[in-house]
Amino acid sequence: MSILRADLPRWRHSKRIDSDGTPGSYEVADTPEGRFGGESSEYRRLGPVNGFFAHRSDGLWCEGVRVADLASAHGTPVYIYSQGALEWRLNRIQKAFAGLQPLVCYSIKANGNLSLLRILAEHGSGFDIVSGGELYRVLKAGADPDKVVYAGVGKSAKEIREAIQAGIFQFNVESPSELKAIDRLAGELGARVRVALRLNPDVDARTHAKTTTAKKETKFGIPLDEAHDLFAGRGSFPNVDLNGVHLHLGSPIYTVEPYRVALAKMADFIPRVRQTGAVVETLNMGGGYCISYDGREVITPFDYADVIVPAVRELNCRLILEPGRYIVGNAAILVARVLYLKEGWAGRRFVICDAAMNDLLRPALYEAYHHIWPLEGPPSPVFFQGSGNHLKKVDVVGPICESSDVFARDRELPSLEEGDLLAVFSAGAYGLSMSSNYNGRLRPPEVLVAGDESRVIRKRETYQDLVRGEV
Ligand code: LLP
Repeated sequence: MSILRADLPRWRHSKRIDSDGTPGSYEVADTPEGRFGGESSEYRRLGPVNGFFAHRSDGLWCEGVRVADLASAHGTPVYIYSQGALEWRLNRIQKAFAGLQPLVCYSIKANGNLSLLRILAEHGSGFDIVSGGELYRVLKAGADPDKVVYAGVGKSAKEIREAIQAGIFQFNVESPSELKAIDRLAGELGARVRVALRLNPDVDARTHAKTTTAKKETKFGIPLDEAHDLFAGRGSFPNVDLNGVHLHLGSPIYTVEPYRVALAKMADFIPRVRQTGAVVETLNMGGGYCISYDGREVITPFDYADVIVPAVRELNCRLILEPGRYIVGNAAILVARVLYLKEGWAGRRFVICDAAMNDLLRPALYEAYHHIWPLEGPPSPVFFQGSGNHLKKVDVVGPICESSDVFARDRELPSLEEGDLLAVFSAGAYGLSMSSNYNGRLRPPEVLVAGDESRVIRKRETYQDLVRGEV
């Protein structure tokens, strides 16, 4: 894997070395490539620092807005989104798979903000939902129900009824009991519903244990033989059109191999099912398409498409995709302010910032790596040639009363001062959507940047929000 910096030769920055040997100010030249909208290599827009979030001489910019100005205007912590990045990423998926004209259903669990959903819907996206709450969100965002698919192992009768009444495209059913329930509820409502069976193909996607979903010991999907029998016995479900299969292998997946293995299993399974006279019209490959969190080059939607498109064409199915992280992950940052610097035992340095695990849970829950860098000063040597000898190892932590409230341990960062602003990159997916009010903390606002304009797409919570509904 190569480091992004090789792809950024046009980011000229001259480094001034101060008399004590530490780098002084950087002059980062503005180039068309460094500005939003410029065409350049695939990678530079895939990493956390990309054409939409870019360091310039006066700090980090999101498209045409200086991030520090947004932090002053809206306070910290604050999530900042780039509309350009969001649209570009949806477009990459659409382009990569264009040969099959897939139904792309953005997985809204990654980030369900109404404004983001509206933008994606306007660009033709459908949606993958997993609850009545997510159905409410997509309908409120103006989504076309005919482009909505609904997965999840525990849909309640109320949720199933609501989805039938909304006229969604398809249920992804995860057990025989759920299939019976959907058939019964559809009958009661006088409806006929489209169903795909979510399969458990027993494929190891080699991702974090907590986001592994296709191995046989997980709760997801139906074992292949049992699914085969459900297709063969489809006549027992008169209110259901059982006509698709669904897979979701895990998240994130950094190689195409698991998709290849799962599709090889489908090349056996789908013809076997068809021999029973069943129709398999749709093949939903789920999500899991990776992003770069640390600047290293990762595979792109085109690499996944190279494996998926020919196999699905061979099976003569309509392709459905459910990307979440790929679309929104590197389209946002979380900005925090350094509250205090503190030294612990044996010189351990803590940078205590005003964002915490309640705002972005991934590092605490999965030991996930997020690139962190000050908004101002020299850009990171991970992305730009430059010396790292001015860096110090610190732990970046939040104010929550848990020792897991750590964004980064032993992370090399430039000298920081209390009051400095930090960007936590790649925060768009599973950031705000997994946030909470733990420790009585108010969820941060979300600000969307488009060109040189910005608007609040979710307000900062208030103390009143914390107790709403309590008696
Ligand atoms: N489809 C289904 C059925 C899913 O369960 C998921 C994610 C997706 C699609 C979207 O996967 P993506 O394209 O975003 O990889 N909280 C974890 C990720 C959990 C993913 C759960 N399912 C994280 O922060 O890494």
